[in-house]
Amino acid sequence: MSEQGDRRAVGTLIWGFAASHVVHVGTRWKIFDRIGDTERDGAELARELDLPVPSLTRLLRAAAALGLLAEVAPGRFRLTRRGALLRADRSDSLYAFARMLTSSLNTAAWGRLDESVRTGDTAFEDIFGTDFFSQLGTDPELAALFRSGMASATAGVAPELATACDFGRFDTIVDVGGGSGTLLATILAAHPGVRGVLFDTAEGVAGAADVLGPVADRCTIVEGDFFHKVPTGGDAYLLKTIVHDWDDAPATVILTNCRQAIPDHGRLLIADRVLPEAVDPAGSPLPYLMDLHMLVNLGGRERTLADLEQLCARTGFRVVDVHTPPGLDFAIVEAAPALS
Ligand SMILES: C[S@@+](CC[C@H](N)C(=O)[O-])C[C@H]1O[C@@H](n2cnc3c(N)ncnc32)[C@H](O)[C@@H]1O
Repeated sequence: MSEQGDRRAVGTLIWGFAASHVVHVGTRWKIFDRIGDTERDGAELARELDLPVPSLTRLLRAAAALGLLAEVAPGRFRLTRRGALLRADRSDSLYAFARMLTSSLNTAAWGRLDESVRTGDTAFEDIFGTDFFSQLGTDPELAALFRSGMASATAGVAPELATACDFGRFDTIVDVGGGSGTLLATILAAHPGVRGVLFDTAEGVAGAADVLGPVADRCTIVEGDFFHKVPTGGDAYLLKTIVHDWDDAPATVILTNCRQAIPDHGRLLIADRVLPEAVDPAGSPLPYLMDLHMLVNLGGRERTLADLEQLCARTGFRVVDVHTPPGLDFAIVEAAPALS
């Protein structure tokens, strides 16, 4: 890359916060839905939103420069394929995820990244005086945003995860911290002989009955606290983006509770991003940004396979397989009870 190309690449990083704001405002005003499958004049959108034409047009042009819209004639816009991912009305939409990730709940602690790096502490807890999930429990609107953000992010990877390993060999899959059930519903739909248990907090499972509708006759919803107990009765215990939410001490408690529930022939299935031992320059930066996100907001971390093997060994499991769906940052790490 030329010197100028390098300067532009670094400039794009420096301006990353601004791009994030464009996505934040664009999704908040549902610009991507309002344009939908049509072409719209900025002036028309401005009237609809009761906004000044010149400043809205500037926002739309920034979104076009970022590749989310195309300006087909001066002041007239359509969605690009990328912009269409920010429409709220598609099942694999990134709309709710964008709303969640760019909300002040999620961005406040990033302002204290230096503090978290210096101390290793979770900035979120200093700001809000409580941990992320307890804060969600006090704010139904944010909890709903988080649930739908997670559900939409999971919907984007659920088909690949559901086929990444043979879920059909299990009788009952317990989805530990399964949220609104997006992944479990996908897995059960693909395997008509398998039953499921969706386990999460009361806030976590709100809305799950609708998501699980098509497989409701084979799925039970259980509310509870995985730091206290995990339901028995499964032969597979699935944890998708759960272990990464927590540092080693709390993650150990969750896996120990899974170990207590799991039969000797059962399997633990950890679906998380698995970091390589060293950064792959050809890989996506997102797992590393997510790792920092975990540091500042939740106190969790992304892990390497060796980290997960250690965590499993400490909690009475041994890793027996790693399933890596092509094209995803995720892997499913399969572990069996370590029998003495
Ligand atoms: C990052 S989300 C993952 C949700 C789901 N597995 C997915 O990937 O879409 C973490 C989940 O853990 C749940 N959770 C947090 N603390 C919990 C607890 N103490 N007991 C049970 N579930 C909990 C949250 O409600 C949330 O649904």
